Amino acid sequence: MSRLADTLKSRRQKLSKLIDFSIVLESGNLKSRNFPANTYPFRASSHFLYFAGLSLPNAAIRIEGDRLTLFLDDPHPTSALWHGDSPSRDQIALEIGADAAYPLSEMSHFSSESIDHPAFVDAIIKLRLTHDESAIAEIRKAIAVTVEAHRIGMQATSNAQTEAQIRAAMESVILSHNMTCAYNSIVTVHGEVLHNEQYHHAIGQLDLVLADVGAETQSGWASDITRTWAASGKFSPTQRAIYEVVLEAHDRAIAKIRPGVEYLDIHLLACETLAEGLIDLGILRGNAADLVDRDAHALFFPHGIGHLLGLDVHDMEDLGDLAGYEKGRSRSSRFGLGYLRLDRPLQAGMVVTIEPGFYQVPALLSDLERREKYREVVNWDRLADFADVRGIRIEDDVLVTAEGSEVLSIALPTDPEQIESIVGEGS
Ligand code: GLY
Ligand code: MN
Ligand code: MN
Repeated sequence: MSRLADTLKSRRQKLSKLIDFSIVLESGNLKSRNFPANTYPFRASSHFLYFAGLSLPNAAIRIEGDRLTLFLDDPHPTSALWHGDSPSRDQIALEIGADAAYPLSEMSHFSSESIDHPAFVDAIIKLRLTHDESAIAEIRKAIAVTVEAHRIGMQATSNAQTEAQIRAAMESVILSHNMTCAYNSIVTVHGEVLHNEQYHHAIGQLDLVLADVGAETQSGWASDITRTWAASGKFSPTQRAIYEVVLEAHDRAIAKIRPGVEYLDIHLLACETLAEGLIDLGILRGNAADLVDRDAHALFFPHGIGHLLGLDVHDMEDLGDLAGYEKGRSRSSRFGLGYLRLDRPLQAGMVVTIEPGFYQVPALLSDLERREKYREVVNWDRLADFADVRGIRIEDDVLVTAEGSEVLSIALPTDPEQIESIVGEGS
């Protein structure tokens, strides 16, 4: 049996201990643009990928105990003319270790539950929350390519006129490894726009470049890394000061990761560390814990400390908060907690991101109600000294281990001097 087939069988065996009914998972259909053969890039559903291993369009699998059935049409006879040789249904069945394989039309003869069955949702969350060795190996592969992409992006900066050119350099590394992006890249001098997907801005010498770029392996496993560097190759004193505050929050959050620790407490530790750093810089006034209680940190760090990572970059968020939030818990309505995507005790085998940031978001900072609410705790004049820091985020991917954690993306430096040195290699 192939290694892939072995892995898939062991996932089915684990599933069969959690449910006592059969289940069908569909991969999804190829979507056409203006004529049938001109299709959008295809990517199978993650739940399908978890048990089928291959991103097969227009396919389904049925799992009954540890038995796997594949439903897939053989390539159309004319397909070889346009697409070359494609593997047959039986060849694919062999590769994934299917016990039987039929054309899609046969599927209606089998009765099964589908992905919305509540007991299956519980089971799949339980399985996908922690990763097996094969999944971790795939995530490591995606991360290795992403690390290289970030290095190349840093080195490309001195010769880049626009964000698009840095993005192109980074994504070319991903494409050259025959991988795709796990999400739309963020490569921007406007890091204060949290999910900025514009790439047309010119790179100014005084700008920071924030790049949040992650590769995805062919079988769909994701990575998610952010670095922020100075376009000139050297952080200004104000940029460096804030960078160090964000880095301290990043380092302390990662140091706290181990099984049993509440992810919410890691978020709060990062918030408090940021608040402390901003007090030291004279931007915030008061006591860090009180400021976090009042959500004052969220003026500058309005999102959560991170999320689950796996077959999707925000893993299993297609299930809403069912995977991210422990049963009985729900999102807080607090400004400083409402965007937290994961609120569970950590378990060995989980992969989470840690991604603190500092942003000057005009929509937040110029909001009159907020300004009034936080009038005394923010030294607005002092904040104006840091106008060259629009957005900084430092994001790593961390495996929870039995003893603590392993930073899977450790090969990409976070130290500001090492980052300056990599950016300098390009000039
Ligand atoms: N790249 C999206 C995120 O960091 O959550
Ligand atoms: Mn992330
Ligand atoms: Mn990211």
